[in-house]
Amino acid sequence: MRHHVGGPESEEELLARHRRYLAMPETGRGCMFAVLLGDEMVGSIAYHQRDWQEERIYETGWNVLPPYQGRGIAAAAGTALIAVVREAAGQPDRPRHLHAFPSVENAPSNALCNRLGFTLLGACDFEYPVGSGTLMHSNDWRLDLADSAPPSRGHGETR
Ligand SMILES: CC(C)(COP(=O)(O)OP(=O)(O)OC[C@H]1O[C@@H](n2cnc3c(N)ncnc32)[C@H](O)[C@@H]1OP(=O)(O)O)[C@@H](O)C(=O)NCCC(=O)NCCS
Repeated sequence: MRHHVGGPESEEELLARHRRYLAMPETGRGCMFAVLLGDEMVGSIAYHQRDWQEERIYETGWNVLPPYQGRGIAAAAGTALIAVVREAAGQPDRPRHLHAFPSVENAPSNALCNRLGFTLLGACDFEYPVGSGTLMHSNDWRLDLADSAPPSRGHGETR
């Protein structure tokens, strides 16, 4: 699960991460969602605000547990997430763009960006997790939240 996103973390780092996620909604700058299949939690998906190349943006990231991958779950969660972020972006002084930064080698995540209608701007390097000293070579994918056009291509119904 962590192969393309900085590797495994210690129990302490995971707990600190979990506390940050729990605190996100209060900040009004983002939210972490559980992805449910029926009553079962099979993944997570989030958005939050950050600064990127002198612009305030929204960033998203996603996880689906291995037994559930390849079934369109991230595509469905991503579609739902984009609707939530579009609504949040409708408020005054909110970012206009949603970005995703998958590692250039993360084939499923790059395919997902394409599937969800993001545009590939190019490759970039940045530190992830912040403060880790680990540099990720990532693709910068961007979705214009003011553009209500659906993804350029689809594969039938999302589930
Ligand atoms: C990225 C991830 C969330 C995708 O979840 P998923 O539910 O398996 O994705 P979906 O089934 O909705 O498929 C999304 C796209 O990925 C493609 N895909 C899925 N598994 C793939 C694989 N192993 N190799 C290449 N493409 C793959 C699908 O074909 C689909 O693309 P398409 O619409 O062009 O056919 C999942 O692989 C994951 O959790 N990875 C580990 C964590 C991670 O790296 N997160 C991303 C951080 S940026």
